[in-house]
Amino acid sequence: MARLQDRVVIVTGGAQGLGEGIARRLSEEAASVVIADINGAKAKSVADSLIQEGQQAIAVTLDVAERQQMRDAIQTTVERFGRLDVMFNNAGFNRPLPFMEVDEDNFNSIMRVNAYGVLVGTQEAARQMIAQGSGGKIINTASIAGRQGYADFAPYCASKASVISLTQAGAREFAKNRITVNAFAPGVVLTPLWDGLEQDMIDRGVIKQKGEFIESFSSSILLGFPSKPVDLAGIAAFLASADSDYITGQVIMADGGMVLV
Ligand SMILES: NC(=O)c1ccc[n+]([C@@H]2O[C@H](COP(=O)([O-])OP(=O)(O)OC[C@H]3O[C@@H](n4cnc5c(N)ncnc54)[C@H](O)[C@@H]3O)[C@@H](O)[C@H]2O)c1
Repeated sequence: MARLQDRVVIVTGGAQGLGEGIARRLSEEAASVVIADINGAKAKSVADSLIQEGQQAIAVTLDVAERQQMRDAIQTTVERFGRLDVMFNNAGFNRPLPFMEVDEDNFNSIMRVNAYGVLVGTQEAARQMIAQGSGGKIINTASIAGRQGYADFAPYCASKASVISLTQAGAREFAKNRITVNAFAPGVVLTPLWDGLEQDMIDRGVIKQKGEFIESFSSSILLGFPSKPVDLAGIAAFLASADSDYITGQVIMADGGMVLV
């Protein structure tokens, strides 16, 4: 039997990039997948393509930092698939600024989605899992930026350090309910997020053409190349499966050997 057969999984930020890669892999392993994203049209197109491949999938539109929208997404999941087994709090974004230019809006907007959104997703998923009474798994997308500060990414780094703290705090809170809470921390993943970062750096005159920033940022990866979502999908599937049942409160570095902690 496939490892994720009959598991019901929500992937936030599942409409593209890493979240889409995770959703596709979980789907291949027979999970029923809910693509939850602020971009409802893209979420629907990922869900439709999974359905065409014969998988079980639906799309829901939500802003992860809006509690009622998170509740509605979980309710829709339960109405459609009967339960919730795994929550991937994966949605996130970055808006880089030089350290001295970071302002309240920049800081708060990044913290709201990347950190508060993970808190809301964890609380609401746990509420459902506790009601079901059979445990569950919460998996958060952290980052190397949660382990190491980068001058132009200060709020993003703070938000990802928060993801790690929330993972540890959640693991302690929900162990009694047999809910594990873990994170994985990618380094450089080739997704649309980097297109935006490269454009920001061009606009600020830091680089001249697309590709330069990712190339310099990737130079310290021990394995010598940046990852693709598919390189991380197996780790996500492991964390969603019973194979990881004895792991909780951990952050798995998945960065090709960039930050050694
Ligand atoms: N790409 C990388 O190099 C990298 C490295 C480390 C960690 N990460 C993390 O991986 C996660 C996914 O990043 P990605 O590279 O796939 O980015 P991406 O921009 O390609 O995809 C992010 C998805 O999240 C969605 N989203 C954004 N804000 C949302 C909100 N408020 N509510 C619901 N959905 C929202 C977007 O619509 C998009 O579909 C993020 O948490 C990011 O911080 C990425």
